[in-house]
Amino acid sequence: MLIFLWAESQGRVIGLHGGLPWHLPADMHYFKTVTTGHTIVAGSKTFASFPRPLPNRKNIVVSHQPATAFPENVSVLHSLPAVRAYAAARPQEKIFVVGGAQLFAGLLDDVDFLYRTRIDAGFDGDTWMPVIDYSQFTLIDQQPGIRNEKNPYDFVFEQYQRH
Ligand SMILES: NC(=O)c1ccc[n+]([C@@H]2O[C@H](COP(=O)([O-])OP(=O)(O)OC[C@H]3O[C@@H](n4cnc5c(N)ncnc54)[C@H](OP(=O)(O)O)[C@@H]3O)[C@@H](O)[C@H]2O)c1
Repeated sequence: MLIFLWAESQGRVIGLHGGLPWHLPADMHYFKTVTTGHTIVAGSKTFASFPRPLPNRKNIVVSHQPATAFPENVSVLHSLPAVRAYAAARPQEKIFVVGGAQLFAGLLDDVDFLYRTRIDAGFDGDTWMPVIDYSQFTLIDQQPGIRNEKNPYDFVFEQYQRH
């Protein structure tokens, strides 16, 4: 199953200068908890924003570049049809598409679940989540984030399932 996992602020902003516009450790913790033991699929720009392949998860990068351009413990897929085929061959596996915008846009028709962290604050950005038709999805879970000194925004963890 294909799951989108991302955080967005007001106006669907998701990125700035190759990284995240905000520092929200509670969301990083959520990302780690949800994805550990599963598979993550990242576009090469998003992969480049990680300090290293993420541990305890299968890391797949989507890129036109040869596999030799990436660390050995990373799998490389060279097209969106290849991602679809990978997921179709593993229906029981949780495959988290973790961005960025190019991957989200290209796989929007294929995604089964949406795990969105909605940050109720405004940030400058240069990368946006594509428009999603939420009428095709049911909100199945919603947990408020805890705002505190280290996480100084209102935010909500949402999970949607395609009908
Ligand atoms: N807020 C969030 O939750 C979140 C999540 C993820 C990312 N982000 C942010 O989003 C930004 C990056 O997003 P982005 O949209 O610019 O880039 P991206 O989707 O991460 O990566 C784009 C790259 O992926 C590869 N790619 C994309 N489509 C492909 C296809 N059909 N076939 C083969 N390769 C393909 C290409 O790599 P090559 O050029 O190597 O061929 C392309 O340059 C960063 O700022 C990041 O921090 C935010």
